[in-house]
Amino acid sequence: MEVVGPAPVVVAARPTSRTARKGAGPSSWASMKKFLSGTGAIQRILNFDPRAITPEIRKEVDKLLQEKANSFDHATIYRVSVAAAPLAKWVSANVKYSTVLVKISPMEEKLSKATETLQVAQQKLVEYKDQLVEIDEKVKQLREEFESRTREAEVLRVGLERAQTTLSKANNLMSKMSGEKVNTMKCLGAEILRTPTEAAWNALDSHIFLSQRLAKELNGHVLDQYKNPGNPLAHYEGTAEEIFEQTKGKLDYMVMSAGTGGTVTGTAMKLKQLIPGIKIVGVDPHGSILARPDSMNDGSARTGQGRLQGYHVEGIGYDFVPTVLDTEVVDYWIKTDDDESFAMGRNVIRHEGLLIGGSCGATMAGAYRFIREQKIGAGKTVGVLFADSSRNYMSKNMDDDWMKKEGFKIDEIVESTKPENKGLYDKLFGF
Ligand SMILES: Cc1ncc(COP(=O)(O)O)c(C=O)c1O
Repeated sequence: MEVVGPAPVVVAARPTSRTARKGAGPSSWASMKKFLSGTGAIQRILNFDPRAITPEIRKEVDKLLQEKANSFDHATIYRVSVAAAPLAKWVSANVKYSTVLVKISPMEEKLSKATETLQVAQQKLVEYKDQLVEIDEKVKQLREEFESRTREAEVLRVGLERAQTTLSKANNLMSKMSGEKVNTMKCLGAEILRTPTEAAWNALDSHIFLSQRLAKELNGHVLDQYKNPGNPLAHYEGTAEEIFEQTKGKLDYMVMSAGTGGTVTGTAMKLKQLIPGIKIVGVDPHGSILARPDSMNDGSARTGQGRLQGYHVEGIGYDFVPTVLDTEVVDYWIKTDDDESFAMGRNVIRHEGLLIGGSCGATMAGAYRFIREQKIGAGKTVGVLFADSSRNYMSKNMDDDWMKKEGFKIDEIVESTKPENKGLYDKLFGF
């Protein structure tokens, strides 16, 4: 390899370097070799003055660079080439180091491009840093909002499920509360809200709770037949007086069914004052718990109707004892079932021409049972109070199809009303 270089002079470092300040530099190949390797070599090369290179050193440098070109990694070559710019300049002008240069140039170019890209990226990163913090915050907020919305959705879903359950139960109410009552109220301009028949009196979805809630919301007033003293008082001052007047006080027993108990309480109190010795008979359907002693409410052995189980007759019986019912005024309690109540209702209509409904049928069935069980004979007068008329029950116990649909043996019931079938009622209802 031909090496052309400046006149051989003693190596002298540039004045800025430590080496230069000391005035030292490689003057032989041995010192040059040392100069070109070990700790601080790059710095020394950087400060190297090419004029100090002797032909001998040049030759060895060339050899060394040839060797190193194959063993240096690219980063080192680059660093050396950048740091030793004056040396490289001299080398490229004086020495045929094509192999080295071919390797260095593209690397240099690539690296500078990469550095440039990196710098741009770093700059962008700084620019975007604030935006990234903002985006982070936004993502956090959205996540929290999403979680809270999810919770809200869950609450709504549960609420909707409950509402659907209530609604489906409310539809059952149609089988308990007659359509006549509903339609009458509608014609009077009322908006109808239905509550489940089987809701306990103190349940949140009971008709009692709903009326209290509506009173609050609509700033209204609940007359509250269960607690209002005006309920029994009306019967004390009105109903009892009427009965006394019509019977002229000749009454041994008075039979009344109990719902709120206002009728039986008010009427009984006054009749007991007016007619000494009169006995009061209270009628309570199986499924209700108003009768005393409470063991009477445990269910019907004949039909299997259980304690607190729903029944069809409307207006009488409850799953709690209303405040206005004074059970002490009742001397005898009688329990009745739906089938005998409806059958008795049909018999009263057919034989007495009195257009009554289910609860009146129950009261009469109770009276009949009482008379039979207590063997009340001729010469005694038994009064029976009918609290309602057929008008509200045309589509129920007055309707053969409804009776059939609800599982009553309508054919037998109709048969029991025929004069030629005297005794059939007794046979059908366990006498
Ligand atoms: C059809 C029917 N029968 C009997 C009764 C019993 O009356 P009370 O609530 O005074 O006991 C009611 C009461 O609403 C009723 O609607």
